[in-house]
Amino acid sequence: MKRILTGLQPSGTLHVGNYFGAIKPMVELQGQGEVFLFLADLHALTSTQDAGQLRQYIREAAVDLLACGIDPSRTLFWRQSDVPLHAELMWILSTVTPMGLMERMVAYKEKVQKGIPAGVGLFTYPILQAADILLYDADLVPVGKDQKQHLEATRDIAIKINEAYGEGTLKLPDALIGEDVAVVPGLDGQKMSKSYGNTIFIFGDEKATRKRVMSIVTDSTPLEAPKNPSGSTVVALYRLFASKEEVARMEDEHRAGGIGYGTFKQRLFEAMWEHFAPLRARREEILARPGYIDDVFADGARRARDIGAETMARVRKAVGLD
Ligand code: ADP
Ligand code: TRP
Repeated sequence: MKRILTGLQPSGTLHVGNYFGAIKPMVELQGQGEVFLFLADLHALTSTQDAGQLRQYIREAAVDLLACGIDPSRTLFWRQSDVPLHAELMWILSTVTPMGLMERMVAYKEKVQKGIPAGVGLFTYPILQAADILLYDADLVPVGKDQKQHLEATRDIAIKINEAYGEGTLKLPDALIGEDVAVVPGLDGQKMSKSYGNTIFIFGDEKATRKRVMSIVTDSTPLEAPKNPSGSTVVALYRLFASKEEVARMEDEHRAGGIGYGTFKQRLFEAMWEHFAPLRARREEILARPGYIDDVFADGARRARDIGAETMARVRKAVGLD
């Protein structure tokens, strides 16, 4: 059975783009392999320096992921910082990582361009990511296209270790890039992303969520006039929540004219609200169980540590630290 591992940074409230692009595919992978999922809170420190905020994002991400269907009895779920082995392995990996390899990382350059201070931690971020993966002998790593380069770097680093200390010291993972995962558009039609402020939260309250949906940017075609469904963000989002027939009907109604965007947005909101209803119910159940998340974290950390410790013992021996 393949071991499938991925990490998610707790760096914002989870939105509909995260749901369809990352969470739902992960939920569906449960049962198709041995699934490992962790909250990359050490990575999140490279973008958040507000302790209260980080603490809140970590808890919120855990609650939301479990509400979305991540099942800790089937998936090994933990927080990265609970397992110090990630940081320990990272150090060893960094001693074989060429500067040039890190200097080529596009994500680093993009983040610095966006105004994130060019810290050493941000620069060596991919080495910690490599440690996350290599510590658990992962076979497959589901990630978005933007992470492809980090996965290639992970393999390069594993190869360096194996060349220096012997084949089989670390296992080479493969990226699992969701090519068919469509990019979910945000309120302004660009990719939905927390950095663009155009998101719809999965678990926002009803009033706020409705308001967000009603604020989707549309063109100024008057109510009576025919509208182009193919360029419409409302239709694109509706497709995620409605049946084929319902989508076809909305498209026909666009072309026919006589119905305004407000009506379509209302319908989108209803479909979305209904779609997430069972997840909201599960979230309420989780929130009603005091200490549940702490127990999940404690159990996950213990199991992750046991597995990571085996790899670490192998690495310590290989490099001469045993
Ligand atoms: P954001 O763009 O909001 O900062 P992240 O980069 O933290 O989101 O993404 C976390 C996961 O969600 C990644 O796997 C990413 O590919 C996925 N994701 C984020 N936004 C979208 C989107 N608009 N459509 C599809 N997948 C997305
Ligand atoms: N860098 C990833 C992202 O921003 C998060 C991450 C950290 C990760 N460690 C990982 C993903 C290990 C996969 C495997 O999305």
